[in-house]
Amino acid sequence: MLHNDKLEQWDRENFFHPSTHLAEFARGNAPQRVITGGSGCHIEDRDGNRMLDAFAGLYCVNVGYGRAEIAEAIAEQAKELAYYHSYVGHGTEASITLAKMVLDRAPDTMSKVYFGLSGSDANETNIKLIWYYNNILGRPQKKKIISRWRGYHGSGLMTGSLTGLELFHKKFDLPLAQVIHTQAPYYFRRTDMDQGEGDFVAHCVAELEAMIAREGADTIAAFIGEPVLGTGGLVPPPEGYWPAIQAVLERHDILLVADEVVTGFGRLGTMFGSDHYGMRPDLITIAKGLTSAYAPLSGSIVSEKMWAVLEQGTDENGPIGHGWTYSAHPIGAAAGVANLALIDKLGLIDNAADVGAYLNTQMRAALGDHPHVGDIRGTGMMCAVEFVADKDSRQFYDANDKIGPQIAAKLLEQSSVIARAMPQGDILGFAPPFCLTHAEADEVVAATHRAVSTVLG
Ligand SMILES: Cc1ncc(COP(=O)(O)O)c(C=O)c1O
Repeated sequence: MLHNDKLEQWDRENFFHPSTHLAEFARGNAPQRVITGGSGCHIEDRDGNRMLDAFAGLYCVNVGYGRAEIAEAIAEQAKELAYYHSYVGHGTEASITLAKMVLDRAPDTMSKVYFGLSGSDANETNIKLIWYYNNILGRPQKKKIISRWRGYHGSGLMTGSLTGLELFHKKFDLPLAQVIHTQAPYYFRRTDMDQGEGDFVAHCVAELEAMIAREGADTIAAFIGEPVLGTGGLVPPPEGYWPAIQAVLERHDILLVADEVVTGFGRLGTMFGSDHYGMRPDLITIAKGLTSAYAPLSGSIVSEKMWAVLEQGTDENGPIGHGWTYSAHPIGAAAGVANLALIDKLGLIDNAADVGAYLNTQMRAALGDHPHVGDIRGTGMMCAVEFVADKDSRQFYDANDKIGPQIAAKLLEQSSVIARAMPQGDILGFAPPFCLTHAEADEVVAATHRAVSTVLG
C-alpha cells in the first residue's frame, strides 16, 4: 500500500476511538499507533516497530497473529457464501458445525449455543433469557442481577451496569436499577488485613447472604461472574470461593452466569474456567477465544435446565423475540471452526498451562522482593503485578500518579513489550497468546524488571 502521510491527521479528525481520552487524542497529546501486521506473539506498526504483544490484543488473539489456516477459512467462506441469516431455522454449514464444536467442549449440563458478535451483546442476551425464563416460570418479580464490584461484562446499557468499574458508570447514568453489586473476591485488597484466605471467602459469602436477605431471594434472578476477574485487575479467586458462592445461589434458586469471555477456550489451561473451578453455570458467555478475534463472534451457551423452560416459553408465546441480523454470521463461524481446530491441533491449551505457569513463577522470582511490588498473581496464561507505595502497610499510590500506566509505557519504550495498565489500580496485566514460548516469557519478565526498576528504582 502507498504510504499515506495524512493517516494520523485523518485518524484525529474522523475516528472516535473507544476507551480513549477524546480531547487529548484530538489535540495530538495521546498515544496514536497504527498497527499494520502481526505474526505469532508479535505485532508491527506502520513505522516498522515490532512489539511483543503480551496482552494478545485485548486478551483475545489466543492462537497468535498471522495464522493462515484461519485467514483461509474466512476467505473461502466469504467467496462461497459471505452471509445468510440464522432466523426461523436457517443456518450455514459453518454455524451448525461450530455449535456442535462448542457444545462438545462445554460442560455436560449445557444444551445449546446462541451466537452473537461481542461479549457485551452475549451478556445482553443472557439477561434477556434470564428474565424470559422467570416470566415463563410465573415469577415476574424475580429479576435483579447480582454482579461484583470490579467485574467486567461489557459496556452496553445492561452490560455496562453489570460491569463494576466506576469509569463505565460515571456520567452515563449507570448502573440500571435491576443490577446490584457485591464484594469482589480480591484477597489482596481485603479491608481486614488480619483475615486469612478462608476467612475472606467466608466474608464474601456473608456479604452475599446479607444482600440476598435484604433484597429478598424472590427478587433476585441471577449472579454473574468471571471465573477469574479480568479487567478489574486479573484476580484469581481465593481457594474455595466458587463452591461456597455456588452453594448460596443454589439454596436461593439464583441462576449462575459464568462470563467466560476471557477464560473460555483455554486461557486458564483448561477448556473453560468453569472446569478449572468446578462451577456449574446455567449460562456461559463466550467471545474472544471463540475465534481468537480473527472475526467478531460471541455466544451464550444455555444449560439443559434453562433450555427446557425456553422451549416451554415458545410453545406458550410463539417464536422467541430475540436475534441480530449478524447472529451466527458465517464468516465469524468459519473463523471459529478453524480456530478451535487449530487450538486442538497445536495443543495450545496445554502450552497455555505450561508456559503460563512458567511466566508466573519467573515473574515472582524476578519481582517478588521489590519494595513496591505488593502482589504478583495469576493462573494459566494470565499474570498481574500490583504496585504499592508501601509494602508493609499495603499503602496504594495516589491514582493521579499513574504508576501503572507509567510502567506500561516504559516497558514499551525500552523493550517493545506490550502489557496492559489495568484501568482501576496500579496493576500491570499480562495475558499473552497461548503460543508464547519459554524464551518469550523470559523476555517479558526481564523487560518488566527493567521497566519497574527504571520507574520505581
Ligand atoms: C469478561 C468479559 N465479558 C464481557 C466483555 C465484553 O466483550 P466485548 O468487548 O466483546 O463486548 C469483556 C471484554 O473485555 C470481558 O472481558
